[in-house]
Amino acid sequence: ETLILLYGGRSAEHEVSVLSAESVMRAVNYERFIVKTYFITKSGDFVKTQEFTELPAADEKLMSNDQAAAEPKISPAAIYEKDAVVFPVLHGPMGEDGSIQGFLEILRLAYVGPNILSASSTMDKLLAKHVFEAVGVPQVPYVAAFADENQAEIAEEVVEKLEFPVFVKPANMGSSVGISKVDDLTGLEPALLEAYKYDNRVVIEQGVDAREIECAVLGNGGEVAATLPGEVVKDVAFYDYNSKYIDNKIQMDIPAKIPADLAQKIQDFATQAYKAVNGAGLSRCDFFVTKNGNVYLNEINAIPGFTQWSMYPLLWENMGLSYSDLIEKLVDLAKS
Ligand code: DAL
Ligand code: MG
Repeated sequence: ETLILLYGGRSAEHEVSVLSAESVMRAVNYERFIVKTYFITKSGDFVKTQEFTELPAADEKLMSNDQAAAEPKISPAAIYEKDAVVFPVLHGPMGEDGSIQGFLEILRLAYVGPNILSASSTMDKLLAKHVFEAVGVPQVPYVAAFADENQAEIAEEVVEKLEFPVFVKPANMGSSVGISKVDDLTGLEPALLEAYKYDNRVVIEQGVDAREIECAVLGNGGEVAATLPGEVVKDVAFYDYNSKYIDNKIQMDIPAKIPADLAQKIQDFATQAYKAVNGAGLSRCDFFVTKNGNVYLNEINAIPGFTQWSMYPLLWENMGLSYSDLIEKLVDLAKS
């Protein structure tokens, strides 16, 4: 069987994607698959990169953006191969927002992970909040902000409804990109301007003093399984994109050291939220848990970081499903 890895991509999470794709290509069961890789450059060009029929050397790298940019471009549709399954190991806009999923639907290729609906609805933090609200999954208080609205009125609403610190987040981004922590009213305007660089829809969230607990969900439609949660143990007040994904500085506690009933509650909320967005394949549901035991869903990552040392695969490993078996399971789900 051919497994096509699509990686790189136009989003700010390009580098995470390359690391995830490298992990996948080193863990694939080569008894079953041959792997063809296609790189999407930061400017959105498709480039054919390596093909593997057997386990690549441990130090084998996929192409970097600079290398790939010098290669001949192909038409995106040229990735098509009858009966191949695609793993779009892509994060953020143009990767897990439904666009690439729509493209793969048009090509009639099976693909791993979220469908158009679950991808687009979870990528937009504002829309996702509306959905979770509708199904009764708790979230932190927030204010919606739009670039073309009166910014003074937004500030008033923030003062009225929220307490500082607040977090300002572009609605359509992942991985801490464009996000600021704001400690007082004077910081709000610059934070909004920064966020509007990425999206004219922005969410301002109540900061909570909380542990970050994450739960991995796997499955299609009604047949969904959720792992015991894990905890992101951070020693800084706010960890940014580089420390989280590039320098790999975060630590994880798997399983999270929390009471069993709390873990169960989180698994239930994760499953409920996943089903509400018509989740497919996989997702990582990120929660906040406060000292007094309040649980809030922060977000669903439809295509979570997927390196071998990422939270999502490690949560499944803890449940007895190895990284390689997880990839096979995802491919099977894609074909079902
Ligand atoms: N958006 C990144 C890749 C994650 O949440 O894992
Ligand atoms: Mg995230």
